[in-house]
Amino acid sequence: MKKLKAAVVGIGSIGINHVKALHGMGIELAWLIDLDLNHAKTVAAEYDATNYSTDFADVLDSDVDCIHLCTPPNLHYDQMTQILNRGFNVLCEKPLCFEDQQAMELYQLARKHNCLTAIDFNVRFHLALTEVKSIIESEDFGAVRLIHGSYLQEFHAFPAPLDWRYNKELAGNMRAMTEIGSHWTDLAQYLSGKKITALSARFANFSPERDLHEGMMFEKDSISVSDKITVESEDAVILNMLFEDGVIGSCILSEVSAGRINRLAIEITGSRKNIWWNSEDNNVINIGMKNAGINTFVYPFGNSFGDTLGFLFKAFYKDIQRGYADENSRYPTLYDGMRNVLICNAAYTSATNQGKWVEIKI
Ligand SMILES: NC(=O)c1ccc[n+]([C@@H]2O[C@H](COP(=O)([O-])OP(=O)(O)OC[C@H]3O[C@@H](n4cnc5c(N)ncnc54)[C@H](O)[C@@H]3O)[C@@H](O)[C@H]2O)c1
Repeated sequence: MKKLKAAVVGIGSIGINHVKALHGMGIELAWLIDLDLNHAKTVAAEYDATNYSTDFADVLDSDVDCIHLCTPPNLHYDQMTQILNRGFNVLCEKPLCFEDQQAMELYQLARKHNCLTAIDFNVRFHLALTEVKSIIESEDFGAVRLIHGSYLQEFHAFPAPLDWRYNKELAGNMRAMTEIGSHWTDLAQYLSGKKITALSARFANFSPERDLHEGMMFEKDSISVSDKITVESEDAVILNMLFEDGVIGSCILSEVSAGRINRLAIEITGSRKNIWWNSEDNNVINIGMKNAGINTFVYPFGNSFGDTLGFLFKAFYKDIQRGYADENSRYPTLYDGMRNVLICNAAYTSATNQGKWVEIKI
């Protein structure tokens, strides 16, 4: 079997996890690219990478089997265009890009150049969710009727570090919707097999004015020596959704819920069974049936959140090794990444128009 080679562009908080997962899989780390040369050099030494540099053009001239794009989102459209035009397979971090038109263009470009593509919606790869999906797909479950849940995090509760996520130029118009809403909506559609066709959203920015001290944000007027900054993007979202075939759903997103470090919860109701799962008890599946109580099933060969990235990569690299996408492959592709951009932008349009319903036509 051919030893595959990869490049990772952007070795920040998620990029380093790509490096670790690829290293663990025995993939050659042929190129590591980051703006910080010393950092790239250190990571290269630790994970046996062959080359490192600050210049993105180096990977475009390389013979790697796949490029992992882990830079901030404002760079994705331009870098993805170059990657796809050179015919590389690519695993892009979410969000794919900012604009609907750009997303559709990138999708078409990947098709034109026969590139294998993946987007890092890694939550799909919790092992217990494989079982959840097969239960939902079984006849016993009946027709999917209702999908609801939440994605709660505490990362942006005060005090919180100021980074690119608060800068519109680098992150786009949204924060909670693109950062965590993208994972929840991907998972809801993946598990149920039903696409979101329309949505209505309201956004909340609880602290548009904030204090900034030594790179950390605090509640307005809460500390004496500080700069004042304004933040436009949302801390929280309420989302109502229509899915295909009459399925309805809702979700609460929050990046400011203390104690909820990373809790995605989802409940899917079928005509015969009801099933629910959350990422804090990620190896536990609950199934309800009328007059039969709740059946709690502990998935015996469980995983941690950190493993999900590696499982996604393994599924993707199987296709890269064989040279084509298997129709049963369950990793998210550029098609899912494109639809995700449309869904997030529909949420923004809705939220900036008093929650009016917006259709997603693709
Ligand atoms: N799938 C997930 O669960 C998940 C989790 C976190 C982040 N992300 C996504 O990953 C992307 C990166 O986020 P992050 O948290 O790692 O950000 P980060 O700021 O921690 O890292 C970004 C890295 O990119 C480097 N960089 C910037 N411009 C570059 C360029 N032109 N060429 C090469 N390197 C460059 C920076 O030096 C930095 O090391 C974002 O799109 C984010 O939404 C996804």
